[in-house]
Amino acid sequence: MVQSNAMTQPETVLELEDVCFSYTNCQPVLSIPDWQVRAGQQLFLHGPSGCGKTTLLNLLTGMLTPSHGSIRLLNETLTSLSGSQRDRFRAHHIGVVFQQFNLISYLSVADNIRLAAHFGKRRSKNIDQDTASLLEQLQMPTRLLKQRADNLSVGQQQRVAIARALINHPEILVVDEPTSALDEAAGEAFMKLLLSLSRANNSTLLFVSHDHRLAADFDEMVSLPELNRANSHAV
Ligand SMILES: Nc1ncnc2c1ncn2[C@@H]1O[C@H](COP(=O)(O)OP(=O)(O)OP(=O)(O)O)[C@@H](O)[C@H]1O
Ligand SMILES: [Mg+2]
Repeated sequence: MVQSNAMTQPETVLELEDVCFSYTNCQPVLSIPDWQVRAGQQLFLHGPSGCGKTTLLNLLTGMLTPSHGSIRLLNETLTSLSGSQRDRFRAHHIGVVFQQFNLISYLSVADNIRLAAHFGKRRSKNIDQDTASLLEQLQMPTRLLKQRADNLSVGQQQRVAIARALINHPEILVVDEPTSALDEAAGEAFMKLLLSLSRANNSTLLFVSHDHRLAADFDEMVSLPELNRANSHAV
């Protein structure tokens, strides 16, 4: 668990060492010699389409495993865990907002969020109350709780995806390019909300986008092509 202590340096929540990944036997997509992220940081990770942002997030959340190298998250070596251990670790510690949201289309809004709470092993008896409160903060009418996920607008799906990612108060929140479907004003409002909710939750935020205009309020900007030796010719 991440402990915050104002008297000490923030601890490292994420550490990559000598990580290499390729989808095929040919050209590696990612090669990252060394990278750390400190607890509580709000980090904006950017790079052009196809440079490996989603691939990196899939490695950090244990959905993919690197060809070699180690990934440590919250003092756990993800790369030493089995697939099911990584799934459990993700459900307990990481909130993920996927680029395509990945809501379960035939379930209601409430059930999509309840399911994440179930896998996250939330002890709280107040999941429905917490869900309603999150939706209110996300300016979603609570009447939508019973609506099927596939009957929502894209903007509404996005909000449900965020509520689902935050319901377990994850130490790490990973968000993949979620504003591309929104107009500029809605995108800005979304960013403000996301930053304030992740701050209030004390989550470390890793936010991925190709859109530099969204970077203004983050603690740090990281360019993936600069971090990634596999693409060094493209920097
Ligand atoms: N399942 C896959 N099998 C083979 N190659 C893949 C697969 N997924 C992605 N790639 C390739 O890996 C590279 C990185 O893809 P990735 O999806 O990580 O990029 P991205 O930076 O997230 O792009 P975008 O901004 O368009 O979402 C691309 O060249 C892509 O074609
Ligand atoms: Mg992507």
